[in-house]
Amino acid sequence: MADDKTKRGSPDSKRLNKGEAYELAYARKKAKAGTSAKRAGAAKTARTRSASARAPAATPARSRLGPKAAVRGAPHPPTAKKTTENTAPRTMKAADAVDLLTDDHLQVSALFKQYEKLAKKKAPADQRRTLAATICSLLKAHTTVEEEILYPAARKARIDAALLDEADIEHASAKELIAQIESGNPGDDHYDARVKVLGEYITHHVVEEHTEMFPKCRRASMDLVALRVRMEARKAELETGEAAMVEEGVPVPMAVSAESAGILSRISGSLFPVRNP
Ligand SMILES: [Fe+2]
Ligand SMILES: [Fe+2]
Repeated sequence: MADDKTKRGSPDSKRLNKGEAYELAYARKKAKAGTSAKRAGAAKTARTRSASARAPAATPARSRLGPKAAVRGAPHPPTAKKTTENTAPRTMKAADAVDLLTDDHLQVSALFKQYEKLAKKKAPADQRRTLAATICSLLKAHTTVEEEILYPAARKARIDAALLDEADIEHASAKELIAQIESGNPGDDHYDARVKVLGEYITHHVVEEHTEMFPKCRRASMDLVALRVRMEARKAELETGEAAMVEEGVPVPMAVSAESAGILSRISGSLFPVRNP
């Protein structure tokens, strides 16, 4: 059913089924990409078996190479600059920026599913409003750290500029919907539809990040562990700034910059009208 909706050759051909959870779409796309490699691998195995059947028994390759070859996990492909991060075996790697962003993606995907259930059973407005606010808040922090930290670092590492431009535009579209949801009420026409469409935008965007951008970042000479540290600090700042503003009962702007977070929380009373209860 999912594939029936995907029109090959259309301008939207890269878009996967919008209703499908991104992790499923990702797995499906990855499995498809891996099929040809698997066939090549199977052919190679068959050739090797055939050759070993003809040749006399030899010392196993691993024992000739010594204990180093027994280390599990393959290093990343060669890059311009080798770092501890991109050369360490996979099993020894520290959590990096991609892991942090993946956690957000999984979390927001689960929240969208929860919202879908609430909308389906026409749950009370306050429940839907609270969940929509949580989704918007998570996405604002997430897009901000990507735009301020990951994307600039990726551009610096000369990762596909067109891909990053596309990501910027997708963020902008998502932000428009977030603003509409935040300024609306669950009783408004199209409120649930806006949340649903936001979920579809995000699913599409996240699939592209996981299948194209993140693999490129991991292959490049980017210090993704250091980027994670910066991202965590920035997210903490954003959460603190937002919490202070919510406490004061003022609307939270789309992105609060590092420099302005503290100032905004102090002068927000004069900048923004107090929200009516
Ligand atoms: Fe993104
Ligand atoms: Fe993302």
